Amino acid sequence: MDAILGDCSLENLRKRTSHKWRTHPADVLPAFVAEMDFDPAEQIKDAIRAALNAGDLGYPHKGELGDAFAEFAADRLGWSPNPDLVFAIPDVMTGIAEVVQALTEPGAGVVINPPVYAPFFFRLELAGRRIVEAPLSAGQDGSYELDLETLDRALLRPGVGAYLLCNPHNPLGRVWSREQLSAVAELCDRRGVPVLVDEIHAPLVLPGAQHVPFHTVDHPAARRAVVFSSASKGWNIPGLKCGIAVAGDPEAGEILALRWDALLASHLGVHASVAALRNARPWLDAAIAQVDANTKLLAKLLADRLPGAAYRRPEASFLAWIDCRELGLGDDPAAEFLARGRVALSAGPDFGSQGRGFARLNIGTSPELLAEAVRRMSVAVAG
Ligand SMILES: Cc1ncc(COP(=O)(O)O)c(C=O)c1O
Repeated sequence: MDAILGDCSLENLRKRTSHKWRTHPADVLPAFVAEMDFDPAEQIKDAIRAALNAGDLGYPHKGELGDAFAEFAADRLGWSPNPDLVFAIPDVMTGIAEVVQALTEPGAGVVINPPVYAPFFFRLELAGRRIVEAPLSAGQDGSYELDLETLDRALLRPGVGAYLLCNPHNPLGRVWSREQLSAVAELCDRRGVPVLVDEIHAPLVLPGAQHVPFHTVDHPAARRAVVFSSASKGWNIPGLKCGIAVAGDPEAGEILALRWDALLASHLGVHASVAALRNARPWLDAAIAQVDANTKLLAKLLADRLPGAAYRRPEASFLAWIDCRELGLGDDPAAEFLARGRVALSAGPDFGSQGRGFARLNIGTSPELLAEAVRRMSVAVAG
């Protein structure tokens, strides 16, 4: 591993008290929630130390976040958002819930594409909206695609008020093509449904894939969309509570500006995000290289130790969606891995009914801990 990522020693990791490291007893290896195990980037630590030294712990000011995000987007994603339309938010799901509440009536339907990130279901339901499922189509070979006919039928269902797209997709690690995104924009425009796009995993696109930011799709519906991003996944700082919302036009920007009080980020998170986007790109590259190597290692480990578990290499991020249906572990293999192997994965059914028989493994770690996770999974299967 690159030295700037640290060594992921279990002794040090167990000193962490975050959700990942305190949800289960110490004999469980946690590989569930989307936190990576790498040491934080020095540039981020420096920025936080500087803020602490200056007593800069007040309410947030966006400061240079808009420019820093626009520079990163231009350099890495081929996208030039207007810095004035970049907003700091506490986290992506809070931003999404607020915008959905602004755009739709109570009880309105919101279309999502399961299997998908579990809070898409429960946060929107808590916000008083109905989930309308437009499942991805799943091939025999483990591939998944956006199913445009299914999406169109969902958009036409009575009372649908918004579409929430995930790109790159969690848990599949798919990045959708420009053609697919253009078709999405066209369909949503035709049906009069506004689009929100969660692009939080975009900084972590792996070699060989290309993320297409929704706002770069040449369509009025794409320009009207609200896009969500963050440094929290790419640089592993979700506890610092700063996400990013990008409005495509001033009207959408007004929705966010009006809700400033509901959308206060942490000021330390703003500092950390600016440092990440501007100065910690070598750290991001090291993390991407390690995750990329881990995707290949995982394929080998599964073939050696868990034949029957099927997995397709993700195009982005550090989450592996593993088809365990041949392993005879029932609808929720993660429960069996935990009970019998003492390794915690995310439960497939949490991502929608399409996730029965699947589990999501976090591979944002060292090769050694990844191998240990698969060893424990194989112990569970061996009974
Ligand atoms: C698709 C997606 N959206 C949103 C989030 C939440 O991120 P945050 O709370 O850091 O904004 C996650 C976290 O894993 C995610 O995978």
